[in-house]
Amino acid sequence: MTTKVLITGGAGFIGSHTADALLREGYQVRVLDSLEEPVHPGHEKPAYLDARIEFVRGDVRDERVLLDALRGCEVVYHFAAFQDYLPTFSRFFDVNVTSTALIYELIVREKLPVRKVIVASSQAALGEGSYRDATGRVLLPDIRPTAQLERGQWEIAAPAGYSGPLQWQRTDETVANPQNQYGLSKIAEERVALSLGKRYDIPSVAMRYSIVQGPRQSFYNAYSGACRVFCLSFHLGREPMIYEDGQQVRDFVNVHDVVAANLLVLQDPRADYEMFNVGGDRPHTVSEFASAVAEVFGASGYRPEPCGKFRFGDTRHICSDVSKLKRLGWQPTRTIHDSVTAYKGWLATADNAAQILDYCNRQMAQLNVVRDVAKA
Ligand SMILES: NC(=O)c1ccc[n+]([C@@H]2O[C@H](COP(=O)([O-])OP(=O)(O)OC[C@H]3O[C@@H](n4cnc5c(N)ncnc54)[C@H](O)[C@@H]3O)[C@@H](O)[C@H]2O)c1
Repeated sequence: MTTKVLITGGAGFIGSHTADALLREGYQVRVLDSLEEPVHPGHEKPAYLDARIEFVRGDVRDERVLLDALRGCEVVYHFAAFQDYLPTFSRFFDVNVTSTALIYELIVREKLPVRKVIVASSQAALGEGSYRDATGRVLLPDIRPTAQLERGQWEIAAPAGYSGPLQWQRTDETVANPQNQYGLSKIAEERVALSLGKRYDIPSVAMRYSIVQGPRQSFYNAYSGACRVFCLSFHLGREPMIYEDGQQVRDFVNVHDVVAANLLVLQDPRADYEMFNVGGDRPHTVSEFASAVAEVFGASGYRPEPCGKFRFGDTRHICSDVSKLKRLGWQPTRTIHDSVTAYKGWLATADNAAQILDYCNRQMAQLNVVRDVAKA
């Protein structure tokens, strides 16, 4: 009998690529997705979804719909999520955490023969990540105060009792220090999954993805970050906005490396009841990333210039330590050039790039996320 897999949020970026890989490996795939806007404009089912997928349109929080979707499935990937910068704090918990609890509730109550649940957590769970002070002591710093950023001071200051300067280091899975509503909901989601999974013998895995890049990422997803905006800018012959001083460290991972990780933890029982960072294993500064995008788009002579603005709530540096997943045999193999090249091809399918870039800028302005450094 072929194993049937349910992917919630499977019409989205990571879910649809995971579905394709599962189909290639002979699994049957059912997707439960409510086709949320703005990710899916006009609530349209995306054309890239494989015709072999059994598609159910519905909300993961709807008990009846979720139960029907779970029936007959042995594996669940829970990817449906609310991701935004909006201060609708309760909605993050409602969509991301309540739905996770409901999956376990239904499996236990209805005695469903689900043998693995894999949930999407996020690097946002790490917050500012882990640092060392000048004497080598490890600390988990707090979010930088907005007043400091308004003065154009970007690095994290050493708190009382520590000696500066602080140096970022790769952050492993033992750290949980979320500093926004999204990260908080993802920590809660992974704890619900791993704790209930253990208690009820439902093998469960939580995946803390870093910044995932590749084609199919919605042009309208507020969380698609630098790749979307930098590619759109160079595509339109404009220079992208570089926030802070461009020296922020980020961790980008290609969606195909993420999919390989998703399949590995399904098939390897050593992953059960564990949480894994899934990152690119190569830190890049934002300026380096902008230069890589410029190269792919043929913008020769481009030099990244900070625009005198910062984003409210941004982390200064973050890079996940992926040694735990590597010990299971996984290794990210794609570079940022691979991701940007693939994204460029995806962007070529959009005939309204200028409107998309305007939309991104308007959205950030409306949310008051992008702020000016105060003039001295
Ligand atoms: N893309 C990244 O860089 C990244 C990084 C860290 C974590 N994640 C997590 O990975 C998962 C997948 O992310 P993605 O980038 O593919 O996002 P995406 O927006 O492309 O896909 C999410 C899908 O979930 C669906 N959805 C949202 N709310 C729903 C609901 N209530 N009921 C049913 N469906 C619903 C949306 O319609 C969408 O198709 C999410 O849980 C996200 O938090 C993503």
